[in-house]
Amino acid sequence: MALRLLLQLALLGLGTTRPLVRGRSFGAPAVAWPSFFDLNSPLGVHETTQIPSNGSAPLRVDVQVFVTNVFNVDILRYTVSSMLLLRLSWLDTRLAWNASVHPRRALTLPWDSLWTPELTIQEALWVDWQDQTPQAQVDQDGRVELYLALTTETNCDFELLHFPRDQSNCTLSFYALSNTVMELEFQAHVVNEIVSVKREYVVGDLKTQVPPQQLVPCFQVKLHLQNTALKAILALLVPGEALLLADMCGGLLPLQAPERMAYKVTLLLGYLVFHSSLVQVLPSSSSCNPLLIHYFTIQLLLLFVSTVETVLLAGLLARGHLRAKRSPGPAPRGEQQAHEEAGPNPEEAPRGAGSRRSWAEAADHTFFLLYVAGVVCSQFIFIGLWMWATCKSDPAPGEAVPHGGQPRP
Ligand SMILES: *[C@@H]1O[C@H](CO)[C@@H](O)[C@H](O)[C@H]1NC(C)=O
Ligand SMILES: *[C@@H]1O[C@H](CO)[C@@H](O)[C@H](O)[C@H]1NC(C)=O
Ligand SMILES: *[C@@H]1O[C@H](CO)[C@@H](O)[C@H](O)[C@H]1NC(C)=O
Repeated sequence: MALRLLLQLALLGLGTTRPLVRGRSFGAPAVAWPSFFDLNSPLGVHETTQIPSNGSAPLRVDVQVFVTNVFNVDILRYTVSSMLLLRLSWLDTRLAWNASVHPRRALTLPWDSLWTPELTIQEALWVDWQDQTPQAQVDQDGRVELYLALTTETNCDFELLHFPRDQSNCTLSFYALSNTVMELEFQAHVVNEIVSVKREYVVGDLKTQVPPQQLVPCFQVKLHLQNTALKAILALLVPGEALLLADMCGGLLPLQAPERMAYKVTLLLGYLVFHSSLVQVLPSSSSCNPLLIHYFTIQLLLLFVSTVETVLLAGLLARGHLRAKRSPGPAPRGEQQAHEEAGPNPEEAPRGAGSRRSWAEAADHTFFLLYVAGVVCSQFIFIGLWMWATCKSDPAPGEAVPHGGQPRP
């Protein structure tokens, strides 16, 4: 049991503890304690910084989580930045007073003069508690209410297979490390208070849960994030498709025209620049990478094949011309003359290259048809993959090893 707790603490090592470490000296109260508290009673000031007991049952702390902003989602670093307001409330009967003697309805006390749960966020890279010295409200029955506002950046395993239409669930796990489940339990609710809608990622759904079978009291807030996709469509899909379409149209230029080679090579160069910037925009992970990465790689291959085809056929044609010039044979000459008489463009074909030219043009035409079919097919195959492909991320190493999962005695 103790070993398990140690391991759990080690796992939580990354989380940021609350900066407000309870460093109060246990001497005379440093704060102006209300005069009607009996400092000589056995439940003196020292005692009020201990957790209130609830007999054999754990103390119940009600938590309301107001999510006020999710202002940055960084898919390259796998982090989410959010602003939360926590409203914690619990009953501490030691702080109750007799209303007929002291007719006050509520008191404001500094947070470090009474027991408060210390919260640690497991996934946090950093936590900024906005009020370093929060005040607690206590009413005459001893019900304590404490508000904590925080900004935090947390780690989240985005599911990016369907980027830019990706949806992910991000979890924030709050642990009260200085208490055990025998002393304390959380009851959590979450309220969506996000007022801004102008976001690349929108928060679709919010949930809280209290994970069962923990050694340390814990509650979790789950954010469901959806990508609005507009930026990625404008920056990635539109230029990619435009380049592919332009390349297909390039097949309509005549094979002998010198512009065709220049056109294709320029497109390939343009695509290579686009591809290298794309690689920096898309994240890569050990599992479930975006399908779009494969899509753009296939597009690059298609463009490459079409450029190589143009170069090869144009090269063959040029060689044919040269050979025909060097060794003018009688048979080709006759054929060529016949061709020149029939052909509308006499300057296009030097003698001897007629059959070769028609052969090359036929091959080019066939390739063009195949290429168009290939491009259309690749689009449909990709749409099919997009609809049906699912990916299940590998379990995290902490869940896969034997000490993870359920605690064992
Ligand atoms: C004490 O425990 C009981 C039973 O779990 C619970 O209903 C009650 O709310 C608890 N009281 C406090 C003050 O936490
Ligand atoms: C509150 O104080 C009054 C007057 O001293 C006393 O009569 C009453 O019993 C007290 N109530 C409680 C709940 O202690
Ligand atoms: C995220 O949570 C929603 C419910 O809020 C659930 O329907 C969905 O399957 C979850 N997605 C993932 C990837 O776990």
